[in-house]
Amino acid sequence: MKQHPSDIPREVMMATTQEKPESIEFRDANFELENYCFDTLALHAGAVADPTTGAILTPIYQTTTFRQEAVGSDKGFTYSRSANPTVSALERRLAALEGVEFCTCYGTGLAATTALCLALLKAGDRVVVSQAVYGGTVRLFQQVLAPFGVTADFVDTADESVLRKALSEKPTRFLFVETPANPTLKLTDIALAARVAHEAGALLIVDNTLLTPALQRPFELQADVVLHSTTKFIEGHNATVGGALITSDRELHDRFVFARNAIGAIQSPFPAWLTLQGVKTLGLRMAQHSENALCVARFLESHPRVTRLLYPGLESFPQFELARRQQTSGGALIAFEVEGGVEAGIRLMNSVRLCALAENLGSAETLITHPASMTHADVPAIQRQAAGITDGLVRLSVGLEDPLDLISDLEQALGRKDH
Ligand SMILES: Cc1ncc(COP(=O)(O)O)c(C=O)c1O
Repeated sequence: MKQHPSDIPREVMMATTQEKPESIEFRDANFELENYCFDTLALHAGAVADPTTGAILTPIYQTTTFRQEAVGSDKGFTYSRSANPTVSALERRLAALEGVEFCTCYGTGLAATTALCLALLKAGDRVVVSQAVYGGTVRLFQQVLAPFGVTADFVDTADESVLRKALSEKPTRFLFVETPANPTLKLTDIALAARVAHEAGALLIVDNTLLTPALQRPFELQADVVLHSTTKFIEGHNATVGGALITSDRELHDRFVFARNAIGAIQSPFPAWLTLQGVKTLGLRMAQHSENALCVARFLESHPRVTRLLYPGLESFPQFELARRQQTSGGALIAFEVEGGVEAGIRLMNSVRLCALAENLGSAETLITHPASMTHADVPAIQRQAAGITDGLVRLSVGLEDPLDLISDLEQALGRKDH
């Protein structure tokens, strides 16, 4: 039944009789970015006060579609599989943080990797990938893309001669590196990888998930595309899954936009909004993660039951010089083995109380993981061994708790031999 005007509450009348806002300029919202520092950009880049209410946070535009003014005339958004204002605000911010112009966000990190591959590869193409990468990346290349005629060669991209040989022996569409690599923390020299890739006519893709632009700047080292699982440090609170592809190249960006729409892999507005909130403290969190991880790594290195420890912020790390040159600090991840091999490692992971045994990294809470049975279970054992992912390897993603509490927890867990 149609309501008579006198029955309509006053605030609704006011709202409906107010002037309609001018067209919403979401597209040009990146203000003079070059004038601001990282922490300022993390808070402000890409945000526009809501034109209807002035709300300081970008609203969650939970809508499937957008009313068009006339056929062929819209405000830049038509359907939320193609683009959504909340997701676009996150894209503007992430692009600004990596220091370039373009970004597309996805439902997960692996959706971003899938879109990357579908945008750039066709049957018969070949790519070169770091030997130690996230297990899901290996599974995507070997079990999903290989049947479609894409070849992925996994090589030790930390070794210059191996890298040069791999890129020179066959035509290569792109070189995909993850540095530090998950979970061995092996580093690839990004500037060198870019030179070698470009000489071979290949693109360089860098998975910057483990350090984020707060600690590592791949575009300043000539990378072509940066990939993120925003699930990790970018959102940072164990609240979402998401991914991003970032580039300074408009043509590559257009391909990603097309692929994302064609396969339907865009992120939803609510996780994008949560990520917009999480990323505000990225600089502060990454600095604290690194400080805490350095304390915990020093403790573990001096513990008599720890037989092997890898942390890029320690002088004992085999690629410490490269870490110093390429990253601002060591990051949050530590990989180690304990005396007694696999069983002792599993006992440790079952004995922690404050650290959570879980399959994520990069959150405010400290997480402990057994890569061989959890994150890298789908990587064939022989390939795991070649990449240095031993069965006894423990991965610790050091969170934002007081490091003294983390050390006490690890100390009690390392001391237990009874179960
Ligand atoms: C380095 C890295 N890249 C990509 C991914 C995939 O991201 P997601 O789990 O968001 O799909 C992960 C997941 O652990 C990762 O660690």
